Amino acid sequence: MSSPDRFLLAGVMGWPVMHSRSPTLHNYLFTRYGLAGAYVPLAIRPADLEAALRALAPLGFSGCNVTIPHKERALAIVDAVDPVARRIGAVSCVVVQPDGTLAGTNNDAFGFVQNVLQQQPAWRADAGPIVVIGAGGGARAVVYSMAERGARAIRMVNRTFARAETLAREFGSPVTAIAWEERHRALDGAAMLVNTTSQGMTGQPPLNLAIETLPLSALVCDIVYVPLETPLLAAARRRGNPTVDGLGMLLHQVRPAWKAWFGIDPDVTPELRAAVEATL
Ligand SMILES: NC(=O)c1ccc[n+]([C@@H]2O[C@H](COP(=O)([O-])OP(=O)(O)OC[C@H]3O[C@@H](n4cnc5c(N)ncnc54)[C@H](OP(=O)(O)O)[C@@H]3O)[C@@H](O)[C@H]2O)c1
Repeated sequence: MSSPDRFLLAGVMGWPVMHSRSPTLHNYLFTRYGLAGAYVPLAIRPADLEAALRALAPLGFSGCNVTIPHKERALAIVDAVDPVARRIGAVSCVVVQPDGTLAGTNNDAFGFVQNVLQQQPAWRADAGPIVVIGAGGGARAVVYSMAERGARAIRMVNRTFARAETLAREFGSPVTAIAWEERHRALDGAAMLVNTTSQGMTGQPPLNLAIETLPLSALVCDIVYVPLETPLLAAARRRGNPTVDGLGMLLHQVRPAWKAWFGIDPDVTPELRAAVEATL
């Protein structure tokens, strides 16, 4: 843990263009807690990731977040990986230890679940089948968190079927891989739908998914948060499904990150959300 009487430093490593709102979020917290510190965006080429991570300690960083495309590679670079990051297969947060070594963890799953619970307190993972669209890094965290919470059936749909199969094999029961062509039918009787693809993000086409067969009681979540209301969430809201946007997933990740970096457990308040929302 860093001492609060010194300048505190953390950042996010991504490449090449980062749409991350993490700097806004973390710098808001430095101000809220009256701490001398900064959180900086660091555009790091994939080939330079190891050197950049190794530079954290000598430069005085307490740690950093890792985003697209570095999350899986970071796992192989850090000195210690906790069981959550190991199971998910990706590191989203790096903590510089007192001896300068690097510990890797993954706070995406924690952020996803805490966000759903904050917006839908009665939600349960075992309420019925969960459809997860996408099989990338975000999907791995979502599937991990749903399985941990007792999900009994997770229908994993991905454009590239082999990736869905790999994930189903790794996580075992309750995950079943479903072909992309079957995605509309996969919604039959579902209690929850989660988009973890980049589709619907600003600059990308909407997710190509017809939700007519989705029960009206099903909770619809998107982990994309730019825009806040993706075309999928807008369509779900219009027909009456409860929805959860992706911003809270990012917000809730600050709690374990700040605890590990600075020994502080910040509240995820409406003011914090509003500060980040104002930049979207
Ligand atoms: N809210 C948060 O805190 C949070 C956290 C993590 C990620 N995210 C967001 O989640 C999104 C995905 O991130 P990620 O790290 O999981 O990315 P990723 O590992 O690159 O995975 C991308 C996924 O999107 C799918 N995809 C891409 N283009 C597609 C298309 N045209 N049609 C259908 N599927 C397509 C890919 O399918 P293939 O396998 O077929 O390529 C893959 O399943 C990003 O927008 C990211 O910003 C948000």
